[in-house]
Amino acid sequence: MGSPLSSSKKLGIGVIGVGQIGKVHAQNLARRVPNASLVAIADSNKAAADAVASQNGVQQVYADYNDLLRDKNVDAVVVATPTFLKLEVVKAACQAGKHIFCEKPMALTLKECDEFIAASDKAGTKFQVGYQRRFDPSYMRVKQGIDSGEIGTMLLLRSNTRDPPQKVAGVWADPKISGGIFLDTSSHDFDVIRWLSGSEAKSVIADGLTTAYPELQKLGDKDTTMTIIRLANGALAHVDACRVSVYGYDIRAEVVGTEGAIFMDIGKDSETHLLKKAWESNEYSYWYQQRFDEAYRGELEGFADVVLHDTKPRVTARDGRAAVEIGLAARLAMEQQRAVSLPLA
Ligand SMILES: NC(=O)c1ccc[n+]([C@@H]2O[C@H](COP(=O)([O-])OP(=O)(O)OC[C@H]3O[C@@H](n4cnc5c(N)ncnc54)[C@H](O)[C@@H]3O)[C@@H](O)[C@H]2O)c1
Repeated sequence: MGSPLSSSKKLGIGVIGVGQIGKVHAQNLARRVPNASLVAIADSNKAAADAVASQNGVQQVYADYNDLLRDKNVDAVVVATPTFLKLEVVKAACQAGKHIFCEKPMALTLKECDEFIAASDKAGTKFQVGYQRRFDPSYMRVKQGIDSGEIGTMLLLRSNTRDPPQKVAGVWADPKISGGIFLDTSSHDFDVIRWLSGSEAKSVIADGLTTAYPELQKLGDKDTTMTIIRLANGALAHVDACRVSVYGYDIRAEVVGTEGAIFMDIGKDSETHLLKKAWESNEYSYWYQQRFDEAYRGELEGFADVVLHDTKPRVTARDGRAAVEIGLAARLAMEQQRAVSLPLA
């Protein structure tokens, strides 16, 4: 059982895996999350761990995450290792009685998701998944607009993730490590669709391309995909993903109802945009660290609040599982060129 914490205490958090996103979480915890403090860092790349620790004034640095889990000052952990490694880390963290903030996607298979849920239920600790869009001010405004009833009956939702071009290398490039485009990229959108609609996916069709990065074909992944989801509330949703967005990091959502629509703009603050090919020169040319600056901070503040005040996370392990399930259904639909019903057997 995770030990109860007094609400006046700051949550002591250790970060496991300080690559691209782990670094963002470490920085936020060290400086911008008022109800938590960064107390330890672990990364199998000790040099990387040392560098992030010294940048953020952290004394406790471990090469082995099991040592971090034995640290008494660590109440909770952020798990930001590559996805194929999360299961062993999460199970060990549950056994150590630590609360868990787990980066998305939580796992590569539904069996693994179920093991996460069982381990965290047994430990009685909190488990939040890092779908930060639920903490982003613009997505929260769309959600408020829907919940206020302003658009009437929901007909259509759309959500997209289009990343700027990257080298086919590292964590994202191998679907055995990342889960591939449907789990690693579109699971953000699948979570957005479930959250905005308040409804579950009933069936999915999907297709994909490797026009920009043909080398992904051999690896069994795609650079561009489209997924259409029929929801239990009767609405349709479409999700697209593209890893070659030459005009910038393009993250948007919209919802159309019988009484109106809510559109989210492409940029963080501005309302009009000129789309040019040279994405570096665009006014909105930033990537996820800048686009979701407030959301990454807010999700950790929310997580610390969940632990300190014993409330339910905004993104639960079951939400994490549901996003993985839609991703797996989309992959199957694409591979077999047929509609796939949910829940998956
Ligand atoms: N929420 C978001 O917007 C967002 C953005 C980027 C990445 N992510 C997710 O975060 C996860 C990590 O992605 P990344 O891009 O930061 O990867 P990364 O490769 O940059 O970092 C992973 C880190 O984990 C470390 N690591 C590997 N094995 C380890 C072990 N056994 N113990 C401790 N550390 C270990 C590596 O040394 C590396 O520093 C992925 O699941 C990814 O999908 C989420």
